[in-house]
Amino acid sequence: MFTMPEKIIYALPEQIGNTELFVGRKMEFDYYLGDWYYYLINNMAQSQAIVARRKKGKTAFLQRLFNILWSCPDTGVIPFYFSVREVKTTLAEFSKSFFATFVNHYFAYRKRNPEWAAFPKAFAALRGKIEDKHLKETYEVIEESERINNWGQMWEAASRAPFGIAVVQNVKIVQIFDEFQNINEYVYNYRGEKIDSLSGTYLDLAEKREAPLIISGSEVHGLLEIVRRLTARFKERTLGNLPEEEAKEAIRRYAKASRTKINEQAEEKIWNLTQGDPLYIRALMQSEHNDTKDYTNEDNIIATYTREITQGEIYGTWAEYIVKVFLEVNERNAKRIMLYLFQTGEERTRAQMIKDLNLDMTDLELQMKLLQLIKADLISFGSTAFRYVIAQDKTYELVFRRLFQDEIDHFIPDIRKELRQEMGRTSYEKGKFREYLVRERIKKPFNLKDLAENGIDLTIKPKTILERYGQSGTTRSRDRPDRERQRRVVDRRERHEREVRETRCGSLDRDQKYDQRNKSKNPIRNVLTKRVHDFRKRAPRLERDLRAKGGRGVVGAHSKKFRTEYTESTERTQRNALETLGNAEL
Ligand SMILES: Nc1ncnc2c1ncn2[C@@H]1O[C@H](COP(=O)(O)OP(=O)(O)OP(=O)(O)O)[C@@H](O)[C@H]1O
Ligand SMILES: [Mg+2]
Repeated sequence: MFTMPEKIIYALPEQIGNTELFVGRKMEFDYYLGDWYYYLINNMAQSQAIVARRKKGKTAFLQRLFNILWSCPDTGVIPFYFSVREVKTTLAEFSKSFFATFVNHYFAYRKRNPEWAAFPKAFAALRGKIEDKHLKETYEVIEESERINNWGQMWEAASRAPFGIAVVQNVKIVQIFDEFQNINEYVYNYRGEKIDSLSGTYLDLAEKREAPLIISGSEVHGLLEIVRRLTARFKERTLGNLPEEEAKEAIRRYAKASRTKINEQAEEKIWNLTQGDPLYIRALMQSEHNDTKDYTNEDNIIATYTREITQGEIYGTWAEYIVKVFLEVNERNAKRIMLYLFQTGEERTRAQMIKDLNLDMTDLELQMKLLQLIKADLISFGSTAFRYVIAQDKTYELVFRRLFQDEIDHFIPDIRKELRQEMGRTSYEKGKFREYLVRERIKKPFNLKDLAENGIDLTIKPKTILERYGQSGTTRSRDRPDRERQRRVVDRRERHEREVRETRCGSLDRDQKYDQRNKSKNPIRNVLTKRVHDFRKRAPRLERDLRAKGGRGVVGAHSKKFRTEYTESTERTQRNALETLGNAEL
């Protein structure tokens, strides 16, 4: 089993820069240094493809994985990291560069000398410096093949070297390839033609258990295309946002590094806003627009984030990508469809889209359009291949809407307002969810000390408590606080009674029936309704008294007193009722 090194040696300089900034990814490390590692050393590991959207932290993770593996000298598991550059190159140059990087990383590990990884020697500079017999031979084959212009042979020798060495040296080589999609885009043959099938090299190499691959890349579409061509050679894994605890830790570290003041509330707000997306956190915390260096003030967070969404790094990353896709994809209707999916916030079928957007296209045409958007990773399939959905990511949505909403439906989103809502919304929902959990919890026997911080050790077995609100309640009315609902019930009844009295039409039956229907359901509610009703009867007298005392603003004072007295009585009643219910079966 893998044991974490006491100290990580950063042999490979990490793109993140300050290595202290890297946080978490516990789940991924648990897998790669757990099960996968176990398979690796037992010669069973399957090659992996890490697929994720732009800037989710793929490179950061892969480089840290390299350095962790590198820091364990006795395992015989040797990491090799190669990033396929986005630069046109010949197969000959590519082969030399690939082989040189491998040799450097191999020697760095073997000689325990990070310098080889930090400052790798070029192919030419390796001449005469390779002591290993097999690597020396391969070097000479590559040199010789270049002399006779046999580039294919050069690549053959270079690409097979990691597997060959793993076998003859009885070690494992973990081949970590970043930006792997570029392998089919930037390498040219001697006729100057692009070799768009170079990834085919790995049709067999990806199955070698002694030197499995972990590939990744920033172009999801290109990477997936390769992975699917190399059917079943790679196991796809995604890299999501940082989970809450890790994200908050990242926020704290970035705040420290950028000398920005934060507190617990700020952490919560930034978490709500970024949802743990590493790019969003980094962009906000290290923004050049973070002039105040104080995120304890919500306005500063909003001001900086707005700048990042409209012109900063977040804007740059998304807008550049979206616009590029729209240049490639026939954009007719594409923007409308995306805006529609953002606005619904749920999955929608093609039939619904055609109807709601009044699209003048056939189902097949729409299907093709949606497939293009899926390929570009702008939307995804919903629960079936007939349903489509767009990622719930407020930041992505705002960048998109700011770019296109005016053009589509002549509306300019108020980014600041929406960000403010987003920061508050999630905590409101969480509050509601907790409330729901408590409600569910007290339906079954419970101990007071488990529910309340200072609760006594007392088990309560409640009788069946029916839902406070009937099935018919709307979401809004269900969310309202109980006493507020009760007041509305009384108001409605009084209004109805008044109408019946004044117009002499209708009967009081409706509300009497309403009462009858509810009476048997919820004893707490019945008691409360009666209390409210009694209090209401006393209200005019109360108002008179207040007026006589010359109170400021009779109505205001009245409602304030009403609220205080009413709240107290409600709470008392609830307590009494709960006790009565509980005591019944203690
Ligand atoms: N685990 C992490 N902890 C802290 N910050 C992170 C983490 N992962 C990523 N980041 C931050 O997010 C930024 C983007 O990460 P990275 O470049 O690794 O993403 P990527 O997925 O490789 O992007 P691309 O798709 O462009 O290749 C990094 O510069 C880093 O600042
Ligand atoms: Mg990357």
